[in-house]
Amino acid sequence: LKKIAVLTSGGDSQGMNAAVRAVVRSAIYHGIDVFGIQRGYQGLLNQDIFPMTIRSVGDIIQRGGTILQSARCLEFLKPAGQQKGADILREYGIDGLVVIGGDGSYNGANKLSKLGIKTMGLPGTIDNDISFTDYTIGFDTAVSVVVDAINKLRDTMSSHERSSVVEVMGRHCGDIALHAGLASGAETILVPEMPFDLDEVADRMKDNFARGKRHSIIIVAEGVGKGEDIAQALKDRHASIDARVTVLGHIQRGGSPTPADRNLASRLGDFAVRKLIEGESGKACGIINGELTLTDIDLVVNSKKEFDLETYNLALRLSQ
Ligand code: F6P
Repeated sequence: LKKIAVLTSGGDSQGMNAAVRAVVRSAIYHGIDVFGIQRGYQGLLNQDIFPMTIRSVGDIIQRGGTILQSARCLEFLKPAGQQKGADILREYGIDGLVVIGGDGSYNGANKLSKLGIKTMGLPGTIDNDISFTDYTIGFDTAVSVVVDAINKLRDTMSSHERSSVVEVMGRHCGDIALHAGLASGAETILVPEMPFDLDEVADRMKDNFARGKRHSIIIVAEGVGKGEDIAQALKDRHASIDARVTVLGHIQRGGSPTPADRNLASRLGDFAVRKLIEGESGKACGIINGELTLTDIDLVVNSKKEFDLETYNLALRLSQ
């Protein structure tokens, strides 16, 4: 292995820069030349490829976003686009590629691996929806953004004895809602993985206010539906429920990564390079019970992440 490249793809996440930094510096440490590819697979097809040095990744470990930028690329979904991508990498003499992104990005890496390019996937998404890893890069920061917002909402909700419906991201995965809900002491956590009964939620809110509770927080994962609709459904059940809606949106994808995300990204980035050097390809890197792991991308993209029922039940027990 003489030359590798790194790209970020799909929705960005905090800590992607720390991962790029780790890939670049680990490769150079091992005597391998590194290229950055700008704007994901689209940049590959446009040959937006440039050499990176130790200095190209200075002063980025603390920054959100991705210096390599990201894009969604329709052409790369087709076999002709994938073949073109592999040919371009070969023209540059690049025989290894680290892809930082979510499921869609992993699919692309898998295709390139089948076309003879050695590839490694790193889980970069706030959603925590990738199987065979306990955490994805960006998830911890996104959760802390949500918790910080809820702390602020609590102040004003208590003053006015209101309820707050907070809609959070996560696509089809309820992990952001679950972990932010547990950490912020939310009364109700609605996730797509678990059934819920809005009559029960509304009754409980009414009873809690009658018992003297001064506010209540309902977190709604976007996979469940719109926060606005949930708030309306609660008001329809009990007119006394004064629920205000906050949609946190892309704020959850920004800001400086937490130390946990930076360290996860640093460990995974270095691991990906070392595994490429050892000859591995078509693999996704992850962290399970604190240990770095490698899993076939095929298996990762074809498995649904198991929902953390234990944490969900804990949040339920503590939200009385
Ligand atoms: O996958 C990350 C994510 O932020 C999801 O949580 C959300 O559903 C989606 O991306 C939003 O996509 P976009 O940035 O294209 O609006």
